[in-house]
Amino acid sequence: MKDLTIRQMLPEDVPAALIIERSSFSTPWSETSFLTEVRSASSIALLAEINGIAAGYIIVKTVADECHLYDVAVQETHRRKGIAKALLESVLAIIAPGNVRFFFLEVRASNLSALALYRSFGFYEYARRRSYYDHPVEDAVLMRLDLPGRQAAS
Ligand SMILES: CC(C)(COP(=O)(O)OP(=O)(O)OC[C@H]1O[C@@H](n2cnc3c(N)ncnc32)[C@H](O)[C@@H]1OP(=O)(O)O)[C@@H](O)C(=O)NCCC(=O)NCCS
Repeated sequence: MKDLTIRQMLPEDVPAALIIERSSFSTPWSETSFLTEVRSASSIALLAEINGIAAGYIIVKTVADECHLYDVAVQETHRRKGIAKALLESVLAIIAPGNVRFFFLEVRASNLSALALYRSFGFYEYARRRSYYDHPVEDAVLMRLDLPGRQAAS
């Protein structure tokens, strides 16, 4: 998408991310949660901007050979333009040279747009957690993507 840039999220980007977060989720993350992840060495926090204005973000945590999706959202007026796809692709490019073998996430069972996004990347459902979410109470779909991990040196 023209004019779309993706860069590391910085602490000063958190207020703009919070606006998107609060309009996207019934139980949004707090400012403290964002700042904790933005400052964490084991997290990858990326911001998508259109003409320099925040349009979306993604936050993942990597632990050993696992990556966990913590948060992803795109501002409503910019959805369905490929921004979440670009954010996920950026994360996958960052973790590709490392040891990550498994990428996990959980998503509300009714969140058809997110489910379609994840399936388009090859994530598959491996379990469900009953009544995992509040506001409203809803099952979580647990999804996983298997990655090749670091190639063995020849
Ligand atoms: C889910 C979300 C992040 C998708 O962001 P987006 O930038 O609109 O997604 P993209 O435009 O990159 O879509 C990529 C692909 O995902 C799928 N997809 C995304 N939105 C879709 C929708 N509303 N209906 C069907 N498929 C959809 C499609 O396969 C799409 O590819 P296509 O447009 O070529 O068909 C966005 O809807 C959002 O912020 N929702 C609120 C927050 C949220 O639910 N986050 C996920 C929590 S688990």
